[in-house]
Amino acid sequence: MSDFQLTRTLDEHTAEAALRTDVRRGLTRTPKVLPPKWFYDARGSELFEEITRLPEYYPTRAEREILLARAGEIAAATGARTLVELGSGSSEKTRHLIEAMPALDTYVPVDVSESALTGAAEALLAEHPGLRVHALLADFTKALQLPDSPGPRLVVFLGGTIGNLLPPEREVFLASVRAMLSPGDALLMGTDLVKDESVLVAAYDDAQGVTAEFNKNVLAVVDRELGGDFHAADFAHVAVWNREQEWIEMRLRARSEVRVKIRALDLVVPFEAGEEILTEVSAKFREDGVRKELAAAGMELTHWWTDAEGRFALSLSVADGGEG
Ligand code: SAH
Ligand code: AVI
Repeated sequence: MSDFQLTRTLDEHTAEAALRTDVRRGLTRTPKVLPPKWFYDARGSELFEEITRLPEYYPTRAEREILLARAGEIAAATGARTLVELGSGSSEKTRHLIEAMPALDTYVPVDVSESALTGAAEALLAEHPGLRVHALLADFTKALQLPDSPGPRLVVFLGGTIGNLLPPEREVFLASVRAMLSPGDALLMGTDLVKDESVLVAAYDDAQGVTAEFNKNVLAVVDRELGGDFHAADFAHVAVWNREQEWIEMRLRARSEVRVKIRALDLVVPFEAGEEILTEVSAKFREDGVRKELAAAGMELTHWWTDAEGRFALSLSVADGGEG
């Protein structure tokens, strides 16, 4: 790898301490919850990539369609020399953007999955030998120290990952993104849109069971990292549409009464039959809501693009008073 740097702001010790706190807090409250960032160990990142290829999981294809159609327009509107991507994963779709940005100097992928960061950088550098890649192993909900690189800067947050944050978390997160933007910088964000319940539920409960395996992977992470004795077979994958909140909830439901020991926490977690852990919300959006959330964080939505079927949207925004 020619021009690759990886900065770890999360060492193993910090990550394990955060996991301990989240698991203790999340599994000793009612209802039980686990934050979705713990899905993404190397296996979880692979499973997510498999999800993106499923016939039922339309968001990746819809967002790619928009990127392919609009990459030139995005490049021209932003003139970005630095591309910062939050929750970059495999950077698969970002390629279309990078190809359309001849002035691009530095790509800064940010992710909690080291395997995803190194795999993505290797593939990108093979295609773009002149590109500088400075990856950050970091939690994008915490303060980020971005590397020095030339402006203007385009911050991208793709895939609809914004929907995995709860509304108060989104508010804090969008304010922190706003703080990253200098005049002339922009935010490109992918949001999945509200649609028919049956399409949404199928996308999160596919026929091949890949999403179920992805959901249960969080149990394998707790077993491996904290000495837990969860058995995936004791839990059923559940995906439900919460009509009021307009989000999909992924849950793990105990098939019978179970007691799970977590050695590193010296904790026994009892489950009644049918009791659930909420492992992820995936919020779906409407244009007006996105515009308002961005405005509340001090950003102005300047472009709104959807795929031909209107399933998914990409929005481009600038800091208030930051155009030009
Ligand atoms: N942007 C890619 C990947 C989406 S999957 C796409 O559109 O296909 C979500 C990605 O965000 C995963 O790679 C996961 O490791 C990362 N992620 C989830 N929570 C995170 C957090 N709190 N901080 C940094 N990365 C996170
Ligand atoms: C990463 N994120 C946008 C995905 C989503 O659709 O909410 C994660 C996912 N969960 C289940 N399938 C995919």
